[in-house]
Amino acid sequence: MDLVRRVLLAASRSAWLQRHATERFFVKRGVRRFMPGEALDDALKALDALAQQGLAGVLTELGESVSEPAMADAAARDYEDALARVHARGLDCDISVKLTHLGHDIDPERCLERVRSLVTRAAANRRFVWIDMEQHSYVDSTLRAYRQLVAEFQNVGVCLQAYLYRTADDLSSLIGLGGGVRLVKGAYREPPTVAYPRKRDVDDHYLALVDRMLSAEARGAGLRAVFGTHDRRMIEGVQALGAAASIPTDAFEFHMLYGIRTAEQVRLVSEGYRVRVLISYGAQWFPWYMRRLAERPANLLFAARAVFSR
Ligand code: FDA
Repeated sequence: MDLVRRVLLAASRSAWLQRHATERFFVKRGVRRFMPGEALDDALKALDALAQQGLAGVLTELGESVSEPAMADAAARDYEDALARVHARGLDCDISVKLTHLGHDIDPERCLERVRSLVTRAAANRRFVWIDMEQHSYVDSTLRAYRQLVAEFQNVGVCLQAYLYRTADDLSSLIGLGGGVRLVKGAYREPPTVAYPRKRDVDDHYLALVDRMLSAEARGAGLRAVFGTHDRRMIEGVQALGAAASIPTDAFEFHMLYGIRTAEQVRLVSEGYRVRVLISYGAQWFPWYMRRLAERPANLLFAARAVFSR
């Protein structure tokens, strides 16, 4: 399985594969399980349907590692458009951005300006901007940008990855700042020098970090605690730690990806938990789709079924 995962993660970085695979109709069919469509309109329609079930949303436009300032400007404009359309429709929906999609690799200062203007725009509509975490080489600069923003705004949050050894220290330094932390396991292939290679250790670390995020210190600082996971054991761990500390079920949130463990999303809402579904849209879906397959190689079966089913 590790070999399959490695091949999929290598595929996610292949420009040649991206060019050829994205033209193939059958690949698009497989992708549809995880995203409602390439257009913002498709995502907005899916948000309407989720809202009927009590589920809120987070929108993310797929794209990363842009190399031209014009592409980063276009991504920022697309997010402004998404915020405006969400507001006009009265939807409960935040956005989640990748710094490399907003020009981090070209000019980190200019990238920060783009995120700042999105956070400002989102604040006017009481919406939140989440900053994704990418490969480990980006953690320092991502946290630097987040610290600058959270000193100015409270409607901004950052993703932390439990597979990194450093995350406990990072969380300690962020916990008193308010803002938001979305804890995930981590989706990239990282070396054992920086990340736990074994799933069991990642899971244990995840639960230890949950405990910190639900602590009186975090709640006192107004930290928005979000748990981005579909893992039943992690979800039950969050529920148990929340109950043990007598924290109301709506004082923290679960975020899950569109199309993954949908029944669990609805079940949690029915039990009084807050759940947001992250919906991806946009044409640049190939590296992201490969990472989704790598997270669970059994998804290759779904992808294969989508090729052959009518
Ligand atoms: P795990 O991978 O152990 O899966 C547990 C169970 O969930 C599986 O057994 C399966 O049933 C189900 N499942 C999980 N993934 C599935 C899939 N792809 N298809 C079908 N079933 C699946 N990562 C990152 O590095 N930076 C980031 O910024 C983010 N942002 C982010 C936001 C949100 C809202 C979520 C939910 C996730 C992310 N991630 C992320 C991805 C994250 O790091 C991680 O790769 C996935 O959430 C999968 O990990 P789980 O915690 O679900 O557990």
